[in-house]
Amino acid sequence: MSNELKNPARRTLFKAIGAATAAGATASLLPGCGNDPRDGEENLGFAEIPHALDDQHHLPADYSADVLLRWGDPIIAGAGPFDPATLTAAEQERRFGYNNDFIAFMPLDSEAAPGEGERHSQSRSSERGLLCVNHEYTQPHLMFSGYNDEYSATRGVSASHVAIEQAACGHAIVEVEKTANGWQPILESPYNRRITLNTAMDIVGPAAGDRRLQTSADPSGQRVFGTVGNCAGGKTPWGTVLIAEEGFGGAFQGDPDNIADPLEAKNHHAFGIAPDNRNWGDHDHRFDIGVEPNEPNRFGWMVEFDPYDPTSRPRKLTNLGRFEHEGFTLVSKPDQPIVAYGGADDEHQFVYRYVSKNTYRPEAYAHNRDLLTEGTLFAARFDEDGSGRWLPLVFGEGPLTGDNGFRNQADVMIDVRRAAALLGATPMDRPEDVETNPVNDCTYVMLTKNKKRKADDIDAANPRARNSMGHVLEIVPPGKYGARDHAADTFKWNTFLLGGNPNAENPAERGAYGQQSPGAISAHGWFANPDNVAFDPAGNMWVATDGCESFGFHDGLWAMATEGEMRAAPRHFFGCPQGAEVCGPEFTPDGKTLFVAVQHPADGGDSTFDKPMHRWPDNDPALPPRPSVLAIYREDGKPVGS
Ligand code: FEO
Ligand code: CA
Ligand code: CA
Repeated sequence: MSNELKNPARRTLFKAIGAATAAGATASLLPGCGNDPRDGEENLGFAEIPHALDDQHHLPADYSADVLLRWGDPIIAGAGPFDPATLTAAEQERRFGYNNDFIAFMPLDSEAAPGEGERHSQSRSSERGLLCVNHEYTQPHLMFSGYNDEYSATRGVSASHVAIEQAACGHAIVEVEKTANGWQPILESPYNRRITLNTAMDIVGPAAGDRRLQTSADPSGQRVFGTVGNCAGGKTPWGTVLIAEEGFGGAFQGDPDNIADPLEAKNHHAFGIAPDNRNWGDHDHRFDIGVEPNEPNRFGWMVEFDPYDPTSRPRKLTNLGRFEHEGFTLVSKPDQPIVAYGGADDEHQFVYRYVSKNTYRPEAYAHNRDLLTEGTLFAARFDEDGSGRWLPLVFGEGPLTGDNGFRNQADVMIDVRRAAALLGATPMDRPEDVETNPVNDCTYVMLTKNKKRKADDIDAANPRARNSMGHVLEIVPPGKYGARDHAADTFKWNTFLLGGNPNAENPAERGAYGQQSPGAISAHGWFANPDNVAFDPAGNMWVATDGCESFGFHDGLWAMATEGEMRAAPRHFFGCPQGAEVCGPEFTPDGKTLFVAVQHPADGGDSTFDKPMHRWPDNDPALPPRPSVLAIYREDGKPVGS
C-alpha cells in the first residue's frame, strides 16, 4: 500500500496525451462524455491496496472502518444482545436483517420531528441521518445450526426458520450519528423500523387491482404483504427511498406448467419459479404457486417509502415495470420531468428509463410526491453506430396489443420484459446499477457478466462472447455539458471500460479501460464484474464488484475519474473478506464518510453456520459470520478518496 502503486508509468503516459491536446489536437482526443470544463486532473489521492483473498476487509493506509450494523444487532430499544441460538421471528423483526445490500443515507434535520419529511428532505447533514439498508435474501445454511450444506438447508428449512428468514428480509431504517467515538446507531430513535415480508404495502399504478394481482388473501389486488429480493435502489429529492425487488422468483415454489394460461406459465418460468426452489411454500402457502398462482405477480416491482414517517405505508410502483429490478436512480432538474434509470439483472435483459408526465418543482413537496406514479417507461436500444433510442412501453402502440396477448397497460407492466423484447430493445449482459454522475451529467450502466452470450449474438454494446468479466457503458444524453436532456428520445453511448486484466493473454478476458494503455492500469487496478456504483461529490466513480473471486482475489471497490487524463483508470480502494461481495456504496453529502454493505461473508464451498470458513467481523467463536455495514472515513477527517 505504498505510493509506488500509484504507478508512475501511467502518469507519464497521461502527460504525453495532455501535451498532444495542448498542442492543438481537439478535445475529442479525450472521448466519451467530454465537454467537462474541469481540467480533468485526477483528484484521487489514496494509496491503492493490493488484490488479496483472506478473512479480513482491507482499506488504504490512513483509513478506518467502524462496523456500524451487523445481522442480528438490535435496532429497537429493548432488544438485547444477539444470540443466534435463541433467535425467533419476533426477535428478528426488532433486529438488523440478513445480507445487507443497497444503502441510502437520508440526512435528518435536528429541528424537525417524525413525519416532517418536507423539512428533513432539505437537510444536508453529514453527521446525523437515517441509514436505510436493504436486506436482499437469506441463507439458512449460514444463519442456523444443523444444516449440512446450502442445498439441504434451502430445500428442507423448518417452519420456524422460514419465519425468521421472512423477518430477516426486506429493509431496515436506523438513525445513525457521527460521534467522537465514530459512527453509532441510536437505538431509542423514533424512526427506527424494519420492513419485512410481513409489512403491509399498497400497490399503485396501472397494474393495481388487475385480476392477475388478485389472491385469496387480497381479492382487491391492491394490498400486499412484504417485499423480497431487495437489491439496490435509489433516493428521491422529496425524501423517499426506492427499493428494488430483484430475485423474487426463488421465493416461490411450484410447477408453472400446471397453470392453464400459457402466457402466465411462461411468465412464471421466466423468473425461475420451479418445483425445487427453496421450500418456503411448504410452510407458507402464499409462496406455493399451486395454491396462489397470482402471488408472484405481486413481486418484482420497485417499492417506495418515506423513511421520515415511521407510520407511513410503503407502496409498490407498478408503472416502473415488473422485472428483476436492480434499482432505479433519479435525475432531478428543476422544471423538467423526473428521469429514472434502472437495469434488469438477468442475462439478456434490458436497460430501462422512466420519464414523469409532470415536471419536478423543488418547492412543491406534495406535487413531487406523485411524480413516480404518472409517466412513461422506456427500454433502451443500443445501435451499432454509438447512437441509441428509448422505446416507449405503452399498450396499443406498435406490437403491444391483443395480437401479442396484452389486454391493457397492466399486462404491459406485468410482462414488461416480453414487451421490451417485442419492441426491439437490446438484450444486455445483466444490467445492474444504472446511475448518473451528478458532476458530468452522463449515465453509467454496470453490466456484470453474461456467460450465455454466444459468439453469434454479440453486438457493439455487448461485444464479448461468454462475457465472464462484465463491462461499463456510458450514456451521453443530447445537449451540452450542464444542460443534457435525459428525457430526449435518443442518446449517444460508448464503452467506458471492459472488465478484466488489460494484460491477460486470452483476448476474451483482456480488460480495456477507456483510452488507457494496458500499462497504465496497475496490477491491482483491474477488476471484473461491476455491480453497484456510486459517485463522490467530486464526480469520481466508485464501482463495487460481485465475482472477482473467480479470478483469484476479493470483491471490493475501485475508484476512478470519468473525465480527463485519468478517465476510466481504476484504483483499488476496498477489499471484502472472502466469500463476500460489497454492495451499496453511499457517501454522506460532504463525502467524508463512505458506507458499504458487506454481503454474504464466508459464503462458498462447504462453509456453514457450524463450520464457517471464517467469522468476520466479530472473529468470535460464539458468533457466525455476519453481513455488516461499515462506515469508512479518512483518519484526518478529509473527504474519502481525496
Ligand atoms: Fe442483487 Fe443484481 O445483484
Ligand atoms: Ca446488486
Ligand atoms: Ca450483486
